[in-house]
Amino acid sequence: MQTITRLAMLRNAVADLRDGGKTVALVPTMGALHEGHLTLVREAREKADHVVASIFVNPRQFGPKEDFGAYPRQLARDQALLEEEGVALLWAPERDEVYPEGYATNVSVTGISDRLCGADRPGHFDGVATVVLKLFNEVMPDMAFFGEKDWQQLAVIRRMARDLDLTRPHVDAIHGVAIVREADGLAMSSRNAYLSPEQREAAANLPRAIGSAVAALTGADRAAPALESLRGELLAGGFDSVDYAELRHGHTLSLLDRAETNARLFVAARIGGTRLIDNWPVER
Ligand code: PAJ
Repeated sequence: MQTITRLAMLRNAVADLRDGGKTVALVPTMGALHEGHLTLVREAREKADHVVASIFVNPRQFGPKEDFGAYPRQLARDQALLEEEGVALLWAPERDEVYPEGYATNVSVTGISDRLCGADRPGHFDGVATVVLKLFNEVMPDMAFFGEKDWQQLAVIRRMARDLDLTRPHVDAIHGVAIVREADGLAMSSRNAYLSPEQREAAANLPRAIGSAVAALTGADRAAPALESLRGELLAGGFDSVDYAELRHGHTLSLLDRAETNARLFVAARIGGTRLIDNWPVER
């Protein structure tokens, strides 16, 4: 596996991979890789001839009080993991390669970016959309892979791809991959590393409480009581606060007051300084 940090070299290396009409899949990450990321890589390998992974801790998607400085960086370990998975090329640019002096452009996907995580993290999805569009333009992949753990991020990227006529990758070629979980149900996340052993134990109450809420929401006339008990369960189960616990349409992300086709439960809650998110489909 080649690791490339300069754009001029990336363009040549991707052109080599494409030789003979071969297809290229992109798996964008911020590193500190776990089984969730590696599952994206495996699915990409099944669908494309070559996989390009990227690692870039994108400053534009972190708020001023967020964990940009503390975000885990472990390039050598990540390189070994990607190599083992058969990734052809790692794109790991420096900050000034992505945002050189004088950088001034922002991509904003309005509406869909404002709610859920966007309400708690102003500007976050602008940062994501901007860097993902840049990655698409840099690598020019045939397809790209994103996790459903960050369901809203996937929705924002799909909207952007349709709105901006990104024909390669186009909307059909943006693949969503199911959430990969720990044995106790907690969605894997690079941020789980911030949790103390006690906090880690309490964190399992998130998928547990979501499971009960999904059962209560199925077939219920009103979502509100189940969402209220979900909040209560989290606060009683070691979480310090709940940013949101909402039932929304999975595609438009508009609020629902009862389950319907494509309904999804979205939750974000905090333990100490760590913010955990999860989402789950709800049948009618
Ligand atoms: P990061 O948090 O590193 O995640 C990279 C990709 O892995 C995302 O598409 C994310 O949804 C997926 N992923 C993470 N945990 C997962 C899990 N448990 N199951 C399935 N997929 C999982 O998301 C980002 O980076 C950034 O915002 C990025 C898209 C790279 C732009 O900077």
